[in-house]
Amino acid sequence: MTEEFVRQNQKGYDSGHDWWHIVRVRKLASFINDMEVLADPFEVDITALLHDTADSKFAGRDNDEGYQLIKNFMDSCGMSDLRDKIIDVIKNVSFSSKNKKENPDDPLLWVIQDADRLDAIGAIGIARAFNYGGFRNNKIYDPDVINTENGEMGSSKQGTASTVSHFYEKLLLLKSMMNTQTAKRLAEERHEFLELYLRQFYKEWEFGAGRDKH
Ligand code: ADP
Ligand code: NI
Repeated sequence: MTEEFVRQNQKGYDSGHDWWHIVRVRKLASFINDMEVLADPFEVDITALLHDTADSKFAGRDNDEGYQLIKNFMDSCGMSDLRDKIIDVIKNVSFSSKNKKENPDDPLLWVIQDADRLDAIGAIGIARAFNYGGFRNNKIYDPDVINTENGEMGSSKQGTASTVSHFYEKLLLLKSMMNTQTAKRLAEERHEFLELYLRQFYKEWEFGAGRDKH
């Protein structure tokens, strides 16, 4: 029932946020929680399923309407007692969330946040980033922008940033933001792959740079 509700809601989203993102986050969250035994497995499952339902970037409505939709849905299938707890977690999962707490102390949030962040890095994270960049019609790379390790940028304006800049603003920072040991461990390989990818990207971009002109 929750699956059907989420599938219907996720339809207009880009393919980096589609039903398969939900499936991956659900599996990652369940794995992390099995390893660490932090939260109730049913709550982990329901929260993973619903975590992107209210995302204003795609839903064509503001976040509050999305939260209301989730509330109504949970009430309609007898989950009213879990409702506020789960909405609170969903509000705090997002990297960019404005109403996010500084130091989350909810184990359910740790698990869902880690799972969502793991899906933003590694090979799938790269695919999602370029897909999102395409969806927004962003450049893949802008050589005039200086990207720095700590996520600051030389001269990029919001909305004009390239997808490679997004690596420095967000993706490369996620490894050190993981809450659980299990996610930290899973993040290692995915993070290394981001670095490997960037090295190859720049190598190809610089092709011919050192070549003698005849
Ligand atoms: P969150 O839900 O944690 O705020 P987002 O919804 O912003 O995260 O991001 C979800 C996915 O879209 C991630 O894979 C992220 O890397 C990608 N994404 C978000 N913003 C950009 C961007 N400006 N350029 C490329 N990818 C992006
Ligand atoms: Ni998500």
